[in-house]
Amino acid sequence: MKSVSKKAIEPLTEEELCFFKTYGYLIKPDVLPSEVCDELVDLMWESAPSSLRRHDPDSYQPLPEQDWSSDATLFVHRDKWQYRACGTRQPLIDAMTHPQLWQWGEQLLGEGNIRPPKVDGKPMGHLGQAWPEGPVDPQNTEGVRGIYATLPNSTLAGAEDGLHTDGHPFHFGWVCLLEDCPPDSGAFKVWPGSHQRFAPLFPMPYDQARIPFYDHLPAHKGILHPSAYLQAVKDVEADTQPVDCYGKKGSVVLWHHRLGHMAGHHKGEHKTIRQALLFDYNHVDLDTQRCKPTPDDLWQDWSAELRAADHPLSRALKAEQMLPA
Ligand SMILES: [Fe+2]
Repeated sequence: MKSVSKKAIEPLTEEELCFFKTYGYLIKPDVLPSEVCDELVDLMWESAPSSLRRHDPDSYQPLPEQDWSSDATLFVHRDKWQYRACGTRQPLIDAMTHPQLWQWGEQLLGEGNIRPPKVDGKPMGHLGQAWPEGPVDPQNTEGVRGIYATLPNSTLAGAEDGLHTDGHPFHFGWVCLLEDCPPDSGAFKVWPGSHQRFAPLFPMPYDQARIPFYDHLPAHKGILHPSAYLQAVKDVEADTQPVDCYGKKGSVVLWHHRLGHMAGHHKGEHKTIRQALLFDYNHVDLDTQRCKPTPDDLWQDWSAELRAADHPLSRALKAEQMLPA
């Protein structure tokens, strides 16, 4: 593991651990060093659609159809440009295993309990889509999910937010901003506390049940959403104000696998591209853990330190985390 930061490595405080348990996310600014972000953005531009010009922000617009690609390892569609083929290259694995992130991950799952990635292993998308016209399964990677770019799209200025939870098994995710991302410009968006409401609604603790796809029975496929879950999605959208996790280059967001979230709309007020590195951390025993029934205790498989954390949450931390008052 290459050390890429000159900054001291600091553990999460007990209060931060409590914030994560309560609200299901935690924003930490200034984590990935600037030179690491720059290297990853340079690598991203190797995969740029032809109508985008890096040094011409006027070209940062929804992409013309001739640029679109349904390749699961380099997906391009309208205002999305997602590069997954690079997901196990050394710089990506170095970022994913950055000592600061790894330490925080071990605080959450226990020392030695994070499944390590594999340099030059199989990237997300190598198996194509999870089902025809479906998404790509982020569990099928030996590294990161990829670098995901969102372009300004002024047609989304009045678009509604809508949450989902991820259907594949994992423990928690990271979204790392590789360039400054202003508000309403495509940053990760979360519905605080929703992980506690969604988690008990699934019979399996990490997975969401899937409906098999058959060529001759094409109408029904994908993820099975129990009606209690669909109602909870409506309830959470109605009663919980989401947090737009915008921030500066190098900022990271940690999020629980059952947290309601979305890729925020980039409403086009700023000529920026939301460049983010996404990856998951999984417990080495996920294969055993996912076979048990959903426990009453959401933190059953997590570290003793996280489970024991018990600290009042200050107004200052809530404000730092942009939690609505
Ligand atoms: Fe998602």
